Amino acid sequence: MKFFIDTANLQDIQEAHDLGVLDGVTTNPSLMAKEGITGHDNIMAHYKKICEIVDGDISAEVIATDYDTIIREGEALAELHSNIVVKVPMIRDGVKAIRYFSEKGIKTNCTLVFTAGQALLAAKAGATYVSPFIGRLDDIATDGLALIEQIVNIYSNYGYQTQVLAASVRHVMHLVQCAELGADVVTCPLSVITGLLKHPLTDSGLEKFLADHAKGNK
Ligand code: E4P
Repeated sequence: MKFFIDTANLQDIQEAHDLGVLDGVTTNPSLMAKEGITGHDNIMAHYKKICEIVDGDISAEVIATDYDTIIREGEALAELHSNIVVKVPMIRDGVKAIRYFSEKGIKTNCTLVFTAGQALLAAKAGATYVSPFIGRLDDIATDGLALIEQIVNIYSNYGYQTQVLAASVRHVMHLVQCAELGADVVTCPLSVITGLLKHPLTDSGLEKFLADHAKGNK
């Protein structure tokens, strides 16, 4: 399973990278705005900085919602670096654009996916990744993990190459359950990745090992 970090914060990206387990990065317009990255040139420069830190797929989202502008924006993003994945929303013109990018060999991430039908459409269009948002489904009392299971099964039935990228991951159990269900990728904040390290028995066990070692080596 691949681990992507879901942030535009360069320190968090560096920290996850330094842990040695990071495979890629996802961003979105809200995450860029949260870091205060505004204006076309600054946004493009920020994506380049991310690409300098992580040698893996970096999702950069288009802002346009009409086909021609999505293509123009997506091509400009893809030209920034060979690791850029053009993130396109699950809308009519987005699906058409994913088909176009797929035929041009430009990698895509179909975002804002909330149903298995949308995921099927993204795969048919040739998306590299599909991003079901599990946390946002949980927020409206709908089982986000059940959607991951459905999509993994459907893609496996037909051998679709589109990778299931579980997004809107809120906690460690989401990540572990996505792994159990066979999601190809999970994207999450740094806190979820570092949360995997933690168990009180690890802490107390280590404390005891070190204390016993110190006693025997006085
Ligand atoms: C996915 O690529 C999105 O950036 C992200 O996972 C959305 O998560 P949120 O629901 O926590 O905003």
